[in-house]
Amino acid sequence: MGKALCQSWKESMKLRFDFNNMMAEFIGEEEGITKSQIEALMPKLQAAAKAMAEKRLKGEMAWRELPYNQDEVVKDILSIAAEIKEKFEAFVVLGIGGSALGPIAIQQALNHLHYNELPKEKRGGYPRFYVVDNVDPERMSALFDVIDVEKTVFNVITKSGSTSETMAQFLIIREMLKEKLGEGYRDHIIATTDREKGNLIKIAKEEGFKTFYIPEGVGGRFSELCPVGLLPAAACGIDIEAMLAGAAYMDELCKEEDVFKNAAYMAATLQYIAMQAGKNVSVMMPYADSLKYIADWYAQLWAESLGKKYDLQGNEVFAGQTPVKALGVTDQHSQVQLYTEGPFDKVITFIGVDRYRSEVPIPRGYESIPAVSFLGGHSMNELIHAEQMATEYALLKARKLNCTIVLPEVNAFTIGQLLYFFEVQTAFVGELLNINAFDQPGVEEGKNATYALLGRPGYEAKKAELDARPAKKAEYIL
Ligand code: PA5
Repeated sequence: MGKALCQSWKESMKLRFDFNNMMAEFIGEEEGITKSQIEALMPKLQAAAKAMAEKRLKGEMAWRELPYNQDEVVKDILSIAAEIKEKFEAFVVLGIGGSALGPIAIQQALNHLHYNELPKEKRGGYPRFYVVDNVDPERMSALFDVIDVEKTVFNVITKSGSTSETMAQFLIIREMLKEKLGEGYRDHIIATTDREKGNLIKIAKEEGFKTFYIPEGVGGRFSELCPVGLLPAAACGIDIEAMLAGAAYMDELCKEEDVFKNAAYMAATLQYIAMQAGKNVSVMMPYADSLKYIADWYAQLWAESLGKKYDLQGNEVFAGQTPVKALGVTDQHSQVQLYTEGPFDKVITFIGVDRYRSEVPIPRGYESIPAVSFLGGHSMNELIHAEQMATEYALLKARKLNCTIVLPEVNAFTIGQLLYFFEVQTAFVGELLNINAFDQPGVEEGKNATYALLGRPGYEAKKAELDARPAKKAEYIL
């Protein structure tokens, strides 16, 4: 379906980006960004745009090609999704980080908000959907209380093929499936992993699991638009072709090198300038429950890509900006007090929606209590729009940098645009910061220490290092 979308429909679904409240003309000279600041950066911006284009040409940004080079993969995914629909009642993702946050975000955005609670017919016959992205034993046991493993398919997703959390989950479900199904357990496991590297591919080949591949050069947090995200989405009836078409459309919009014509580059530039001015926090605040987990997905993308100790020349830079997830309007009653009156250390990005998928009128009542009756005759749609606008205004008045992304509707095409936009924005900030946005060396230490603590062969020296750490003092443990 994605390919059949006509140009005028696509244009009607184009995301809008409003950066006014980042600018000094609106927010004031003290906090706001001036046009001349952007102009002064032009040589750096042009160099970054050129570097992005060159890297892409050299094939170093494989995630950018995902909207274009997966026709066969999509066909395969759709045919497996059709089989899954026939055979299974539940689809469970086993994965973590970039192998889980995308599937969670997409499911929340594009399926019913109470999808799992709907009867099968109202789910279009598709299976219920779960993601286990932790090794909390209570959560794992709880899952087994709500699924019937004999009617469940498990999608083990790991790019490296060696992530301990995911492999632990896999070992648990494999054992359970074997106990219940004997040799038939293999039909309940689908692996999504690297074509060659890691342990999962070896296991999958040995066991004969159906396997999808994460293309070479597509890192975990940039992988939602490959089988990592596409299979779980398709298995639950989401239009993955429209998602890819949305990403391709955003790619077209992001081809301009001029930041004033390229929303992703402009957003990146403004964030970069803000970071240099000490705005260390990036708040992502969608005004839609459906987009709640897009903020989680963004948090990983932003934190892991930009949080770097060294620049590309090996100088210590301690780069990054802390992502914070918020939800409008819920967090107006929790965090917005801090955003308006607290330190000038944040950039708040609102995500708004023009047309929600439901219209809920607010009935009239209590005419004698004007503070209640004024709501009657309006709708929840008007209320949420007004609250978003009012929060933007309050932040503007408080001189707090903010910008707004608007989705005409939440659908597979606009979500494809949104994901691709954030990926390009993040990569461009990486260029500006002169860091590698695609690795994550900072998580290795914790991983290695875990291996050492659990006695993995080869980590004896790390275990000795851990054992030699300073003993904790009783006086600080209360
Ligand atoms: O972005 C990344 O690469 C990481 O956050 C990974 O997604 C995460 O560590 C999980 O890795 P893997 O998919 O290899 O299991």
